[in-house]
Amino acid sequence: MHPPFRSAQAIGLFLILITTAAAYAQTSIKVFAPTAVSTEGKIRVPEDFRSEYVMLGAWSVTGDVDTEGEIGQHIVYAPRSAVEGYRKTGAFPDGTILVKELFNSQTEELTTGAATSPTTVAGYFIMVRDEQDRFPENPLWGDGWGWSFFTADNKTETITENYQDSCLGCHEPARASNLIYDYAYPVLRE
Ligand code: HEC
Repeated sequence: MHPPFRSAQAIGLFLILITTAAAYAQTSIKVFAPTAVSTEGKIRVPEDFRSEYVMLGAWSVTGDVDTEGEIGQHIVYAPRSAVEGYRKTGAFPDGTILVKELFNSQTEELTTGAATSPTTVAGYFIMVRDEQDRFPENPLWGDGWGWSFFTADNKTETITENYQDSCLGCHEPARASNLIYDYAYPVLRE
């Protein structure tokens, strides 16, 4: 092969690589909170939250509406980067994924007293911080968040149709802290 031809070929290949890299960078910027949100704004439970996320805190709820009056245990998680962002600014950064894993429970007499611990998963509540109102037509997005509930057996298809009916009323008391009950999560404060 003639040397000048080879270098023309190399330049061509280089240009193709650059264009592909640029196109890839552009798509990855466009995808927002990719482990939980599709490009159309469909929310799912992030696969890796139990191993990759930080546990923010836990609630024990007597007479829980979601566990048919049994004590419910709610374990709340967020990515470590979201915790770091919160510690700096006092609010969760854009793109933060919050997972509230809801458990049925058992209470037994242990050496400490009547002790309640989680048993089976009863469902997942997911919120995704959205400061740019990215999905204005979607009834699962608004008030600065994406909102969805999932039953234990399906982490990809939400049963929530409208966050205003299914979520917002109960979160209004926490309006001053961006609708999140964040006072209960010690790890947000060093
Ligand atoms: C019956 C009232 C009620 C409804 C309905 C409700 N929430 Fe909540 N949610 C709460 C309360 C109270 C807390 C904190 C205490 C707890 O978990 O018991 C909470 C906590 C959360 C958390 C953990 C972060 C935080 O705010 O502390 C997420 C995530 C969450 N809810 C998502 C949702 C989503 C999504 C919906 C709708 C699909 C929803 N919730 C519907 C009352 C409710």
